[in-house]
Amino acid sequence: MAVIHVKKSLDIALLILFFVGLASNFMTAQVHEAAGIIFLVGVIAHNVINRNFYRNFLRGKFNRRRIVNHVTIILFAVGILTLTISGAALTEFFTASTEINWRSLHLTAAICSTVALFVHILIHASRYVHGKNFYAAAMTTFIFAVAAIFGLPYVDRWFHKVEVNRSEILRGEQIQPDGKILIVYFSRVGNTNFPEKVDAVSGASLMVDGDEIIGNAQMIAELVQSVTGGEIFALHTEKIYPADYSATVQVAKQEISNGELPALKNLPAVDAYDKIILIYPLWWSTLPKPVENFLRSCDLSGKKIFPIVTHGGGGFGDSIDMLKNLTHAEISSPLEIYSSDIPSARKNIFDWLKSAATIR
Ligand SMILES: Cc1cc2nc3c(=O)[nH]c(=O)nc-3n(C[C@H](O)[C@H](O)[C@H](O)COP(=O)(O)O)c2cc1C
Repeated sequence: MAVIHVKKSLDIALLILFFVGLASNFMTAQVHEAAGIIFLVGVIAHNVINRNFYRNFLRGKFNRRRIVNHVTIILFAVGILTLTISGAALTEFFTASTEINWRSLHLTAAICSTVALFVHILIHASRYVHGKNFYAAAMTTFIFAVAAIFGLPYVDRWFHKVEVNRSEILRGEQIQPDGKILIVYFSRVGNTNFPEKVDAVSGASLMVDGDEIIGNAQMIAELVQSVTGGEIFALHTEKIYPADYSATVQVAKQEISNGELPALKNLPAVDAYDKIILIYPLWWSTLPKPVENFLRSCDLSGKKIFPIVTHGGGGFGDSIDMLKNLTHAEISSPLEIYSSDIPSARKNIFDWLKSAATIR
């Protein structure tokens, strides 16, 4: 009887710890790491207590319920192992390869483990819950699983500012492109007065190198320059965007609904270049209005534009169609980069730029 109590208490504690771990954006890295380590120890204890399950793992008949249970447990084990390895790689105690995006891997493993955990709980609940109640529990599990799949990356993007070390990520192979290249970018950073200490909300979706805030599009521009050389030109608006992320989202919404083209402080001398690598964030699934103003203000006919879009999950949106409609330039096959993938995107950018169809 006492063993059953210990088992149940451990399972409830594990469930609570798992959710504490998922809420990583609301706590310090140290608390998240501590919760992760305690959870791992708890999972090992859970498996030791339930070791009989493994003794009979392949014995007996396999009905549908048992197959789903086994697959779920294997998926959960792989998820926890990946969480542990990627979690360790993200701490200061280990030096991990910068080729792998450990954050994305950690987040993906968290999503897979969450779904597996819900199914695992549901399967066990089916012993005690029947009929309508079981369907209600299954539906709740399904809703939580969908929320985890779509919600976690969103919440992560909202709160997370990515730390980069330029001296590391800007190193690597280079290409000698044909002709002169101009790299033009627009970013929230450079058009916003951020407070001295950027908090989690205003700093959402940004990058930092030490104390310096870097825009995602800016970081991509620097990565491109480290591959091809060439000049970088930043588009600056006369207006200043709010430091708060969601306030900027609202301002951009108004710009779209009012058809406003925010005035630009400066325009690049595009005449001197044949090829323009244009880097911009996706705003409301389309081109940011300041970028539209740049395209309307410069004569780009006869030029070739290589678009790179950075985004929070929306890909290109309709921005490439907009580019095609707004200019007489030739638009190359574009590249999209999810904001959290930027620190490990140099190889991707290199391959894209190197492909003959793209840069020649
Ligand atoms: C005003 C605004 C609107 C946005 N709209 C979208 C969107 O529709 N889809 C999306 O995936 N990401 C959207 N994002 C996220 C940005 O595209 C993403 O964070 C990008 O990497 C930011 O680049 P930056 O730091 O150079 O400004 C939006 C961000 C802002 C500020």
